[in-house]
Amino acid sequence: MLELLPAPPVDPLWELTAAYGADDRPERLNLVLGVYRDEAGTTPVMRAVREAEIVLADRSASKEYRGLSGNTAFNRAMLRTVLGAGGTPADRATAIQTVAGTGALRLLADLVRHTRPGTTVWISDPAYVNHRPIMEAAGLRVRTYRWVGADGHHDAAGMLEDLGQAGRDEVVLLQGCCHNPTGVDPSGRTWADLADLAGRNGWVPLVDLAYHGLGDGLEADLAPTRMLAERLPELLIAVSCSKNFGLYADRTGCAIVLSPSARALRHVDTALQNAARTLYSMPPEHGAAIVATILEDDVLRASWQAELDTMRDRIRANRADLTTRLADLGRPALAAVLAGQQGMFSTLPLGEEQMLRLRGEFAIYGTTTGRINIAGIQAERIPCLARGIAAVSGG
Ligand SMILES: Cc1ncc(COP(=O)(O)O)c(C=O)c1O
Repeated sequence: MLELLPAPPVDPLWELTAAYGADDRPERLNLVLGVYRDEAGTTPVMRAVREAEIVLADRSASKEYRGLSGNTAFNRAMLRTVLGAGGTPADRATAIQTVAGTGALRLLADLVRHTRPGTTVWISDPAYVNHRPIMEAAGLRVRTYRWVGADGHHDAAGMLEDLGQAGRDEVVLLQGCCHNPTGVDPSGRTWADLADLAGRNGWVPLVDLAYHGLGDGLEADLAPTRMLAERLPELLIAVSCSKNFGLYADRTGCAIVLSPSARALRHVDTALQNAARTLYSMPPEHGAAIVATILEDDVLRASWQAELDTMRDRIRANRADLTTRLADLGRPALAAVLAGQQGMFSTLPLGEEQMLRLRGEFAIYGTTTGRINIAGIQAERIPCLARGIAAVSGG
């Protein structure tokens, strides 16, 4: 039977990672995957996470099955953190623990499909590489809206024009901050325009939060999501704890749904649980227990926030250094594009051929679409990265 299987497409990111693994040049630089690395080149376990793990090991809670919604203390803490303590009232929202941000996106897509079979989800062009596959795997139609202009900055007018075609009960997938892959985010004015448009035309935003805390800071990064929650009756939110808690491997996240109707929210809860039941039954406990322990303890929470701020500052310093060096090397236009971006990623205005040259001649690995992970570079390697980019960008 398996002989019948046609060759499936290979994920380009993991293919590039394998090529990097096989490269034996000592100066090689892996900027492919969205992972934070410190000055030592490692992805650290955050101090608060380590301390929470010790607390949990001492507590030694039973490993008995949890419910279909996962860890309920985690779900409560995530609602408070994402929506704000004084923000959206708890009776307007529900949360279910998921297998990281990816699981949240998939459960929410399933929820949309059950509610409105065959409806359309709008994603940015370009989008996070897994957005379209997840939405299509759940049986939804996908359309795209413009994201960046020819100048490398956010194309607010193009986005709003495209989304003017999104109809009632369609879904618009928006990244809450630090857009992957471009690092380009809408202004506060554009977020307000999006809320107006959604309110007028009746489409529902699905906010994907994967990098909150790594742009302008936790509260500032969550502000657009909270504004949508206050202004719109319905909102879907996919939350990942992979980057801002460094829990990549523990697959921790949640799906949040807002509705003014208590009856609708009860149905949503059951629909999300049913979707989880057929996909993986229950999410893994460890990461959620860590996050709940941190968020429920003032000291651990403060330690987590301080370390998150340090990570954010390091990413910003990397970007600033690369920007200055590119300007010094006579690439002011490139430098201006980089300076306007934020978060872990930048999309360089370089074509596939230039990215292949970067890999072949300088052992610098980014995606062929120009994305590099700013959070993965050690300070001492930035001069070499800048020289490589300047060399392949010509001019
Ligand atoms: C925009 C975006 N959403 C969701 C995810 C999924 O993250 P997770 O590892 O939590 O599944 C990622 C991961 O890179 C991402 O960049």
